[in-house]
Amino acid sequence: MHREETLNALHAQIRACTACPLHRGRTNAVPGDGPADALIMFVGEAPGFHEDQQGVPFVGAAGRLLNELLEKSGIARRQVFITNVIKCRPPGNRDPEVDEVTACKHFLDSQIEIIAPKVIVTLGRHSMARAFPETKISQIHGQPRSAAGQIYFPMYHPAAALHQPSLRSVIDADFGLLRALLDDKLAAETYTPPPEAEQLSLF
Ligand code: URA
Repeated sequence: MHREETLNALHAQIRACTACPLHRGRTNAVPGDGPADALIMFVGEAPGFHEDQQGVPFVGAAGRLLNELLEKSGIARRQVFITNVIKCRPPGNRDPEVDEVTACKHFLDSQIEIIAPKVIVTLGRHSMARAFPETKISQIHGQPRSAAGQIYFPMYHPAAALHQPSLRSVIDADFGLLRALLDDKLAAETYTPPPEAEQLSLF
């Protein structure tokens, strides 16, 4: 099966999933958004109110900030894949519970396997904890590191900057470092730089 069909089939399973109690309160499950051959995957925490309404990740306030950060660093949202650790909204936007993360884990594992991104950007501590459970985000944000043969780039969640404005400059700086990593990593492997005028829209 073609990669896109495989991903679509997985997303149909996510929309029909009843494995944990969160399915009872959802308007829509939120599988993820972006091309099946994306080189970069962003993984947030869980859908919020607007994401649940629309079935699309990062479309509320945190999503608007993510869009701004992507745009400023010359990374096109349409060329990255964006998803979350869990695919249904927890009531009142509380933190995901261990059982919910466990029930949903295989969906994210499958997305990573199908898309096979070159870099996974984790947004926030819940996303980071999948690969680096013993680590504090304050210690590793903005530093690429590998786990199980995969390159990760941990970042603070954009919502953290909405609650704590002093983090904004940290996140801005980390997006600059991410852009440098992508230029380096993708140039070395698969990426042929387009003519100058198109450069900003490639990522
Ligand atoms: N926060 C997340 O972690 N994910 C979303 O999709 C929206 C907000």
